[in-house]
Amino acid sequence: MDTVLAAPTPTPRPSGGLPSPTTTAGERAAALAAADAVARPTEKMSAHDLHAWFGKAEALKGITLPLLERRVTAIIGPSGCGKSTFVRCLNRMHEVVPGARVAGRVLLDGQDVYASQVNPVRVRRRVGMVFQKPNPFPTMSIRENTLAGLRLGGEKAPDPAGLAEKALRQAALWDEVKDILGRSGSGLSGGQQQRLCIARALALEPEVLLMDEPCSALDPIATARIEELIHGLRERYTIVIVTHNMQQAARVADYTAFFHLGELVEYDRTDVLFTRPSRQRTEDYITGRFG
Ligand SMILES: Nc1ncnc2c1ncn2[C@@H]1O[C@H](COP(=O)(O)OP(=O)(O)OP(=O)(O)O)[C@@H](O)[C@H]1O
Ligand SMILES: [Mg+2]
Repeated sequence: MDTVLAAPTPTPRPSGGLPSPTTTAGERAAALAAADAVARPTEKMSAHDLHAWFGKAEALKGITLPLLERRVTAIIGPSGCGKSTFVRCLNRMHEVVPGARVAGRVLLDGQDVYASQVNPVRVRRRVGMVFQKPNPFPTMSIRENTLAGLRLGGEKAPDPAGLAEKALRQAALWDEVKDILGRSGSGLSGGQQQRLCIARALALEPEVLLMDEPCSALDPIATARIEELIHGLRERYTIVIVTHNMQQAARVADYTAFFHLGELVEYDRTDVLFTRPSRQRTEDYITGRFG
């Protein structure tokens, strides 16, 4: 029996005066701080004393971190500190690496995704993922790529054309591809391919979207498009974004977690973490003293 995975009733968005996505990051942070101080958003997911190993090497050393509903959480930290491992533990992808192991709890709507009766495939369905390098399937058309997640899961959408259009619109790609849906996905630009991969994740109608350095292979214009897209998606999804780029974290994330050597050093509202960090290690990192 698959207890975690009954779809939850969507919680209404708090009417705390959140600004529209067109406001500046500073305005948004201030309004968000005011709204979140009155009513802290629900924890859509959370990690509790999460440890992860590759063989004998411990990559995560007891991470406890909330991921608030319909907020963007950035994970920052130097290379090798465990950012990718952390997000891969959230949707049970870490365990597919031979010799990899996880201990601790990861809650999704309050239920442990590592509980023995839970099917990891269903977890991955609810917690979607977008990778660093855009990876559309080269032999599939744009439409087929958008629907590939369903097809791989052996599902048939009742209205595939409608679902593909909806996902491509949400990924802000529809206008650019609506007349070439039958062409190969690999013929698109890097930024378009990444939005296609985001559409592919969204077609599965996840509740949480994990993005592991989604812009690191993109130029500044394509990066700006993805950041704009994240601003729109935060209205519906809980988003976790791993980034090496601190300016990007400051622009897109409501909350930021700083990892170092497999530990969570600090977690706070993004504006607070970047302007008034409470730990010396955070300050050293954000001021470029190491990393
Ligand atoms: N497949 C693997 N096998 C063995 N060790 C691994 C594997 N993947 C990662 N590691 C190790 O686990 C630790 C955390 O790696 P991880 O990829 O999570 O870091 P990261 O913060 O995402 O780094 P980067 O910013 O370079 O992407 C590192 O010490 C890394 O060498
Ligand atoms: Mg990584």
